[in-house]
Amino acid sequence: MTDTRVGIVGAGPAGLLLSYLLHLQGIDAVVLEARSRSYVEQRVRAGVCEQPTVDLLREIGVGARMDAEGMPHHGLSLRFDGADHRINLTELAGRCITVYGQQEIVKDLIAAHEEKDLPIEFEVSDVALHDLDGETPRITYTDAAGNAQELRCGAIAGCDGFHGISRSSIPDGELTVYERHYPFAWLGILARTPPSHEELIYTHHERGFALHSMRSPEITRLYLQVDPNDPLEDWPDDRVWSELQQRLATRDGFSLREGPVLEKSITPMRSFVVEPMQYGRLFLAGDAAHIVPPTGAKGMNLAVADVRHLAHALKLLLRDGDPAPAAAYSETCLSRVWRAEHFSWFMTSMLHTDPDSDDFGRRLQLAQLRYTATSRAAATSLAENYAGLPFEGR
Ligand code: APR
Ligand code: PHB
Repeated sequence: MTDTRVGIVGAGPAGLLLSYLLHLQGIDAVVLEARSRSYVEQRVRAGVCEQPTVDLLREIGVGARMDAEGMPHHGLSLRFDGADHRINLTELAGRCITVYGQQEIVKDLIAAHEEKDLPIEFEVSDVALHDLDGETPRITYTDAAGNAQELRCGAIAGCDGFHGISRSSIPDGELTVYERHYPFAWLGILARTPPSHEELIYTHHERGFALHSMRSPEITRLYLQVDPNDPLEDWPDDRVWSELQQRLATRDGFSLREGPVLEKSITPMRSFVVEPMQYGRLFLAGDAAHIVPPTGAKGMNLAVADVRHLAHALKLLLRDGDPAPAAAYSETCLSRVWRAEHFSWFMTSMLHTDPDSDDFGRRLQLAQLRYTATSRAAATSLAENYAGLPFEGR
């Protein structure tokens, strides 16, 4: 039996950032991760950091590589009717985004843990949570060497993503689930070719949505709306490129650069929130508590906002004996969560081709796109949500 103040399940952005923030506030934590270090460092995920995320990473001293290698973008394009309509984020919202792969942030946070000798246990199994409604909840697990272990904690953070065990450790009837499924998925590729445009392009096309993004001056990231039941085998590289070329085409001859495909996967899209995000001394953060469709680029940014509140609340609970911010954790997070849920749903609905919609629905989408492209008020609303609303409180 080992004691720690906070047991953290999951070494994604939520778990790693929480552990580091707690360390900076003098609270011990242990991170338990089912996968290997190289797996979590290589896993390809989203890549847009909103301004508040960038500011926080800098402020805590883990932003050096992001500042050197990340790509600040001051705008993005909405592409429809065969033409680009630029949204100037910096001018409209006074802040911008930084394109920097989520797994790069994961690498930077793991390196920061290593430097300070902070514990992360990779390749653990059989993680189970106990005594959540008492003052000393416990985590049992099997370590990488196959030994049974037990961690006695002052609080547990469930940062184990959508498919983790934390949320399902909460007794039946305690949580309310709010969710929405979409009749499409995203096929994403990473291609070894320079980006074809200096900024992100969100494309609405009758054949389906497409997104041009990037990871570096040499690597392009592209997404296509596909049917969620499509097997990956139905999408050989030449079909992916042909579809991207058709959807991204413009009336003034945009040319999409092609190159070797380094990675390809299909991700279903859903919106999902559980309320409350806590039970007793278990606090859920990031994808364990909520999922957004990726069109608003909010997933990782929401995880960051959650753990910023959680670190503060756990410091007050465990170090200063003040339980109020921990009791209010869920309520505090949920206002930002629901704002991001709305924005992500809005971007998704405006940009995708819904197979269950009709001509009326398609006219509504075009009306919204044209309004966003021509009204400063509508564009400002998109810009301030996309670049990230300021963190609440403190
Ligand atoms: N025991 C230990 N670790 C687990 C378990 C378990 N039973 N189940 C899952 N995990 C680990 C996963 O292997 C993963 O590394 O928890 C981690 C959860 O990380 P993420 O899925 O990255 O979730 P989160 O940290 O909340 O980050 C949210 O990541 O999933 C993307 O789109 C999402 O961008 C968003 C961000
Ligand atoms: C990405 O680059 O992976 C990316 C960018 C914008 C999104 C989603 C994903 O909305």
